[in-house]
Amino acid sequence: MSKMDEIFQTRLERHHDELKWLYMELYDNDSMFAELCTNLYRFYKERRRQLKTRDKEREKNPEWFRKNDMLGMMLYIDQFAGNLKGVKEKLSYLEACQVNCIHLMPFLDSPKEHSDGGYAVADFRKVRADLGTMEDLSELADVCHQKGMNLCMDFVMNHTSEEHEWAVRARKGEGEYMSRYFFYDNQDIPERYEQTVPQVFPTTAPGNFTYLPEIGHYVMTTFYPYQWDLNYGNPRVFNEMMYHFLFFANQGMDIIRIDAVPYIWKELGTSCRNLPQVHSIVRMMRMIGEIVCPSVLLLGEVVMEPEKVVPYFGTVEKPECHMLYNVTTMASTWNCVATKDIRLLKRQMEAVNQLPSAYTFLNYLRCHDDIGWGLDYGFLAQWEMWEAPHKRFLNDYFTGKIPGSVSRGELYNDDPVTQDARFCATTASMCGIESAQETNDPDALQAAIHLDIMLHAYMLTQSGIPMLYSGDEIGQINDYSYKNDPDKASDSRYLHRGKFRWDLAEKRKAKESVQGRVFGALNELERIRRLERVFEASADVWTYDVHNNAILCIVREQAGERFFGIFNFADRPETAWMREEGGYTELLTGKKMELVDIVIPRYGFYWLKKEN
Ligand code: GLC
Repeated sequence: MSKMDEIFQTRLERHHDELKWLYMELYDNDSMFAELCTNLYRFYKERRRQLKTRDKEREKNPEWFRKNDMLGMMLYIDQFAGNLKGVKEKLSYLEACQVNCIHLMPFLDSPKEHSDGGYAVADFRKVRADLGTMEDLSELADVCHQKGMNLCMDFVMNHTSEEHEWAVRARKGEGEYMSRYFFYDNQDIPERYEQTVPQVFPTTAPGNFTYLPEIGHYVMTTFYPYQWDLNYGNPRVFNEMMYHFLFFANQGMDIIRIDAVPYIWKELGTSCRNLPQVHSIVRMMRMIGEIVCPSVLLLGEVVMEPEKVVPYFGTVEKPECHMLYNVTTMASTWNCVATKDIRLLKRQMEAVNQLPSAYTFLNYLRCHDDIGWGLDYGFLAQWEMWEAPHKRFLNDYFTGKIPGSVSRGELYNDDPVTQDARFCATTASMCGIESAQETNDPDALQAAIHLDIMLHAYMLTQSGIPMLYSGDEIGQINDYSYKNDPDKASDSRYLHRGKFRWDLAEKRKAKESVQGRVFGALNELERIRRLERVFEASADVWTYDVHNNAILCIVREQAGERFFGIFNFADRPETAWMREEGGYTELLTGKKMELVDIVIPRYGFYWLKKEN
């Protein structure tokens, strides 16, 4: 390498030995490692000046993203605004939502009929034609940055589309490309894998392999048959995927969501999930980012139980992801909506609150995927709530089959063998807004709106970064039109991936409309959240027992200020049995209150701050 820039050199030196160590452990290949380093420098050189400035600022302030004004929203470019240029035009709406971090759902070139919502990438360097161009993307990033906003994108690294150039060449029998995937010329090894590897889509895409008759080979396809798993045992795959990652960093992305990361390493005789090599790869990615583009964050998509999620933060000395989804808390929240019993959620929150405060979780109620009922069944067993019947109860409850349930939605991958169905719907439909509108019942609508707002208030009280799902800010309900689209009809996740309803969004200006009430309340909560110090990331947070299983109480304390968030999950008024000294102010109404046996209306909540 010729004379290197000093900044790059310093950063490389900091990580070189560890990076090389991990690389050699996996690949034992000096020339590929040298190639990687040469390319890191190339991407660094190519990085725009503004982005390098951003790198320097954020290196000085690595906690920049752990701020109580951070608010994310995930959205589909086409459903929200047609294309990337459209998103640029709609930034003022997102600003009105106080959103400063936009997660653009997959937008890279992907075959229309076989796209898995964009998670089957055919070309990592090309934006899907109807959404715009790579220039539109970097232009959007620039405008966002000028407005103090961040951009997040998916990096689908576990697999490519079968139409990706590598896959096309592999299908032609080119050995070099076959070695970038998992190819087998007979059933032996695939069958041995099937014995230990669970299925991701048991009904819509059973099995983990797909037979390709034209070349008489089986190829590994953990997800859909058209999503071919990449072989990270091949250093060419690792290097090329890192170049893609850096390419996107150089387009101005601030956050890279590493999709389905637990799956990226395969080993016969294992579950092919969360293997130690996955952590080596994520750690290398973290170092590569810190060398070339230190302002860019890694958000790991690890939809697993807590013991599997937390290791993806790495250690203090050797961090991996900057942020991870708070997935079990999310599922436990909906469990609490169905059972009106907060004990499991409280326990889950206690577990999260005990983790080092440097761990940053992304909190959410809904996202583009289904909800899997991954709860702590060991804990529920003490009340004789067993996994299979409880999952059935949750699915019956949320599909509205149980008397008194106001939720609407559909099952996802209802596996006849394990009976392990997951669930799809929007927050508003799960809260009862859809059913109340159907029956034209103003009281039910009122309750549904309160539940929806209360859940958001609770989500905004958790430690970490809140991520809204586009449409939730106006209480958008399920969209059943996907059933008419043959490319989507078999995947019920499209139920909550409908077009953003700008006509309804307009109604947010009418205070009494559903949209006005949800939008207005969320806006006020977000405003308070960014102003009050108790919401700072370094606050101490714990749950507080109010001797009522329907009420969750969260305390936050920061710099001598104390806050109580009290949330009633029951559909009737309930009392929080408590006695705390001093006067409190309710932050939304400004009302003075005492913390003595407070009665909370159905689905109500209070945000109370102690007066000094
Ligand atoms: C992730 C995505 C999901 C997709 C899968 C396969 O889990 O969130 O939508 O189907 O990866 O790429």
